[in-house]
Amino acid sequence: MSGLNFLSKIETLYQQFKTHDATQSDRLNRYRNIEPESAEFLNIFIRAQQSRHILEIGTSTGYSTLWLAYAAQATQGKITTIEIDVARSAMAQKNAIEFLLDDHIDFIVSDAQEYLRHSSEKFDLILLDAERDAYCEYWRYLPHLLNEKGGILIVDNIISHQTEVQAFLDLVQSDTTFTTTTLPIGAGLFLVTSL
Ligand SMILES: C[S@@+](CC[C@H](N)C(=O)[O-])C[C@H]1O[C@@H](n2cnc3c(N)ncnc32)[C@H](O)[C@@H]1O
Repeated sequence: MSGLNFLSKIETLYQQFKTHDATQSDRLNRYRNIEPESAEFLNIFIRAQQSRHILEIGTSTGYSTLWLAYAAQATQGKITTIEIDVARSAMAQKNAIEFLLDDHIDFIVSDAQEYLRHSSEKFDLILLDAERDAYCEYWRYLPHLLNEKGGILIVDNIISHQTEVQAFLDLVQSDTTFTTTTLPIGAGLFLVTSL
């Protein structure tokens, strides 16, 4: 799919997801896709880093996954994306097929914590975008899954939900083997890489 075609199709899909979310009063029923500017940042980052092994925690309906896969086309990369909700993962898979990006994505339906506990793969980039109260627990596993040379963890909603992620930020920042920064892009992206 050409770049222009992707950009126009993904914008249409994003507007559909936003329209859905606007009708849902229960937060958990919303798709809660990342902001387009965060997606564009990930797209540029993957191309610049030449990321090949990419992990996403929190697929939802696949908006961010499509952007990751769009970028990974250029790096011969592969996305592994984890979602606990089977219907959302199925919707994301359907979208990936429509965007001709499904070859670049492994969809896993699982509790992310279970997946992380049993995974020994190394990733160049990990996008964490799930339920924030589990992030401290995830940190037990994430350092071992990051590629030691240049691997990066990117966490969404760091500015929009600062109080909810504060314990996680404190935990990561107390680990002197990592360096971190927060970018004011979208809902706020927290970047973590080894020193
Ligand atoms: C903020 S949404 C992800 C949005 C998606 N990254 C995007 O931008 O399109 C969070 C998703 O994480 C999923 N989730 C929550 N807890 C999870 C868990 N323990 N394991 C896997 N997925 C989980 C939710 O079902 C929800 O779809």
